[in-house]
Order: sequence, then structure tokens, then C-alpha cells
Amino acid sequence: MKTTINTFKEKKSKEKIAILTCYDYYTATLMNNSDIDAILIGDSLGNVFKGEGNTLAVTIDEIIYHTKAVKRGAFDKFIISDMPFMSYKISAKKSVINAGKIVKYGGADAVKMEGGVEICNEIRAVIRADIPVCGHLGLTPQAINLFGGNKVQGKTYEKAKEILESALALEDAGVFAIVLECIPQDLAKLITERLSIPTIGIGAGVYTDGQVLVVNDILGTYDKTPPKFSKKFCNADIEIKNGVESYIRSVKESSFPTSANVFTSIDRDVIEKLDK
Ligand code: KIV
Repeated sequence: MKTTINTFKEKKSKEKIAILTCYDYYTATLMNNSDIDAILIGDSLGNVFKGEGNTLAVTIDEIIYHTKAVKRGAFDKFIISDMPFMSYKISAKKSVINAGKIVKYGGADAVKMEGGVEICNEIRAVIRADIPVCGHLGLTPQAINLFGGNKVQGKTYEKAKEILESALALEDAGVFAIVLECIPQDLAKLITERLSIPTIGIGAGVYTDGQVLVVNDILGTYDKTPPKFSKKFCNADIEIKNGVESYIRSVKESSFPTSANVFTSIDRDVIEKLDK
């Protein structure tokens, strides 16, 4: 059964919600035939797809491009797309226009916006425009320069209180779920217990209602060391490397192409005529 925003609430405290990022058509087709609850076109594509050091340069057009590709492959899945840096914290109007583009031209079912109390106006405006919003608190990568790096958030009483209050404010503003990134497990537990909407953790421990990870990290298809909170679930990197090397060897040894890969149907006299 296709996930909708209603499914998120229904699954809270009943069944863990599993989400992965995705950026391309083929991986999306594989996910379409899996039990994944939702797919996130994360602005992490800046890191793992474009090879940049952070997410800040990702544009609305890139999010739309990747959302379209994923949607073609994962047509049965609930698609959440990130609103990139500088596409929503400027004004409610700009947020609605940009969220609208992602839904209208990309085909996303919902958008994700990073931030707390300070962006509730923008979130409310996007929801008023009939676009579901997923929140994102804790380590919000678009604020990397403000945090001074990718650091665990919410360790002090003041910071933990800020995150809890933001979570309550986001729920009140109408988000259907909140991603909690890189916060202490016990804080994530407390927030999860206080909310009636699900929390989706990434580096937030076992008590959240679901988990989200970057697909390249779980497959092993990213050259940087995966963060402590992630896990490599298979060795696609080794398979790809073996495939590439095997292809190169076959070309060098002339063992590829074989008769199975060539087109032979041309009249002999055509060649003879050309050869004169
Ligand atoms: O951009 C992203 O991939 C994300 C998740 C990892 C939560 O925001």
C-alpha cells in the first residue's frame, strides 16, 4: 500500500518507518520494488552525487531534476524532496513558490525544510498551499557554517530545550514528521514521546519512530568515511570496482566483444565494394 502523510501518523509507535535518500532513476526502480516507506531526495546529493563538501550549492533546479528521475523509477513510493539552502528562509512567499516548483515540476509528494521555531511562518504558508512538510532539527547541514562543522547538537540544557521547543512548534505548525539529526539518544526519546507525529532519526539513536540514511553510505558507494551513525549494509563499491576492472581487462585482451555482442548482417559485396 502506498505511503501517504496519513500513514506516517498511523505507523507511529506501531511500526518503524524506514526511509532512504535516492537521487537517480535506477536505484529508484530497486527501491520501488522494496518495502521502503518513503524516499528522500536529499540535498545530500551535493555531497554524494556532485562531490561537493557540503549541501549549500544545491539548487532548486537540481532538486527538481533528481526528483523527476527518482519519481520515474519509484512511482509507487512517497517522495519527499529537500528544499535547498536559500530557497525558503527568505520569506513565506518565496517558500511557497519554491515548494510549489518542487511539487509541480519534480513530482514530489512533500518537501523537507530545515529549521525550528524561526521558520514556522514559512512552514505554515507552504502547508496552506496544500504541500505537506517534513521538519528537520538538530544538526541541520544547511547551517554548517553557523555550527562550525558537523557536530552533535542539543548536548546542553539550553540547546536541548531549544530543539524540544522547536519540535513542539513544528508539530503545531502542521508538519507530518520531523527528522532528528545527530542529537543525543535520550533527547530524541523525549521528543519522540512528546509528539503525536513520528520522528525520523539519523544519528539520533534507537527510540525514534523511524530512521533515514544516505543511500550511498549504506551501499558503500561514496569515497568519504561514512559518519559514525551510519552503516555500510553491502559492498557495492567492490562490485563496481570489480566490474570496471573486468571490463578493462576484457577490452585489452580482446575477449570483449564476443560474437554475442556484434552485428554481422551486412552483405559481403557491400564491404567488397567499399574496400576497392
Ligand atoms: O539531505 C539529506 O540527505 C538529509 C537526510 C540525510 C536527513 O537531509
